[in-house]
Amino acid sequence: MQGSGPTARLIAWDVPLHLASNDDFSTVRKLLKSVGFLEQPIAERLQAGPRESQDAVGVLIDLFARAQPIEATAAAALLGDKAQAALQALGLIETIGNSIKATCLLYPFEDLWIASDFPGASREDFVFPALSTQSHQFHAILPDTPCDALLDIGAGAAAASLAAAKDYAATVCASDISTRCVLFAEFNRRLNNVANAEVIQSDVYEALDSRTFDRIIAHPPYIPTLGDGESYRHGGAHGEDILRRVLEGLSKHLRPGGRAYLSTLACDHSDAPLEERLFEMLGPDSSDFRLLVAEWESLPSIEFVMRLVEVGELDFDQGAQQVRSFREAGVTQLVRCAVVVARESGDGSQVMRRVMGQGTGAAELDAAFAASPAEIADLLEQRLVLSPWSTLESTSALSENRWRSFTRVLDCQHPFHFRTDCPEWAAEALAHLDGSLTLREALGQADVDPDDAEIFFECLVNAGALTPTA
Ligand SMILES: C[S@@+](CC[C@H](N)C(=O)[O-])C[C@H]1O[C@@H](n2cnc3c(N)ncnc32)[C@H](O)[C@@H]1O
Repeated sequence: MQGSGPTARLIAWDVPLHLASNDDFSTVRKLLKSVGFLEQPIAERLQAGPRESQDAVGVLIDLFARAQPIEATAAAALLGDKAQAALQALGLIETIGNSIKATCLLYPFEDLWIASDFPGASREDFVFPALSTQSHQFHAILPDTPCDALLDIGAGAAAASLAAAKDYAATVCASDISTRCVLFAEFNRRLNNVANAEVIQSDVYEALDSRTFDRIIAHPPYIPTLGDGESYRHGGAHGEDILRRVLEGLSKHLRPGGRAYLSTLACDHSDAPLEERLFEMLGPDSSDFRLLVAEWESLPSIEFVMRLVEVGELDFDQGAQQVRSFREAGVTQLVRCAVVVARESGDGSQVMRRVMGQGTGAAELDAAFAASPAEIADLLEQRLVLSPWSTLESTSALSENRWRSFTRVLDCQHPFHFRTDCPEWAAEALAHLDGSLTLREALGQADVDPDDAEIFFECLVNAGALTPTA
């Protein structure tokens, strides 16, 4: 763990965890492993109902998943005195009267154990649990392909960093602005005995000098706030403050050929869609990059604010102020999205936008950089394959006592979600696009201008619904 950056502003005065001896870490690691403190047994026991600490894993579940105190002697009989003493030495449990209770959440994550704050702990420097839906979305967009040096900005408890260090990254730097997060992250690094990761305190890139990485990942705070916010979730007036700084620093810190994977929220403006705005944030060297935005959800700005008012996050006056601020800046909608930035040139589109579909993940995001219509010469002569996750929804209307098909909508769920009206000639041709025929052959004698056909099918290639065969 390295020294703090100059703007690090959060002082962790009540971190329960202690960076105790290697022996204590090793004893707790062995305990978690030997009793099988793993995802499936925990899920099964939690589903089964109320507490039942009649064995060691039951004690750990009661302590760390149910946040229940347990009588100290009864727990020691099941965990063993040495293991219980090591849990105490690490600060994972504390004694209250005759009982012990957990000081934080501890859970299995991939092949690691991660400590973070209990959900609902209300504090500015809350250590975000890697089990949250948002963190789950973040982890799902991260490729597990080998890389040399990975930087995780806003690492929190460092679950993504440590999983990368164990599985696919030669070296990892987990950084966070918050002292409390940095201590939890270092604790988790030692608990999991990960030697090729370092934990540093840094305000975005501030403590990194001119270090470069071939992979940069971030799940920055992005909830809009007009006042002072909580550092783990608030991202300035429109939610984009930290995201902007992450993007601005890529020209200095992302190596040629490297990629950045961000899980965030960003704004469409009336005069510019968000993918163009984010591309501009890359700065004067933006022509070195390609950028993909893939949406999970988008909401008109007023609806977004109404949701915050509904859940009591903002009162009515604050909501009205937030709406005014969005209006003045021309914000039309807020988009929860993944952003992938590749430091590479290529003949394909520099800026792309897609919608997440069923099973869209890291592989699909990466593949979007490979196929691009600009690289596909003479589409009519290509053998194209329609995504098998496609359906054609057709509506018929009565005309002269016969049902006649009158609208057709192509819905494709993979690799991205894409819907479009589909003319009859296109629907006929799509049925034959399994890679055995060229597009010209599939169209046959269809009564359509070849240029119109090419434009229609180019859109489908662009959206990933059609893939050229190799
Ligand atoms: C939404 S949490 C994500 C935590 C973790 N990466 C995850 O996905 O579970 C955002 C994290 O960013 C950190 N953070 C906020 N502002 C930051 C900044 N200016 N520089 C670095 N980290 C920051 C917070 O302390 C918090 O840990």
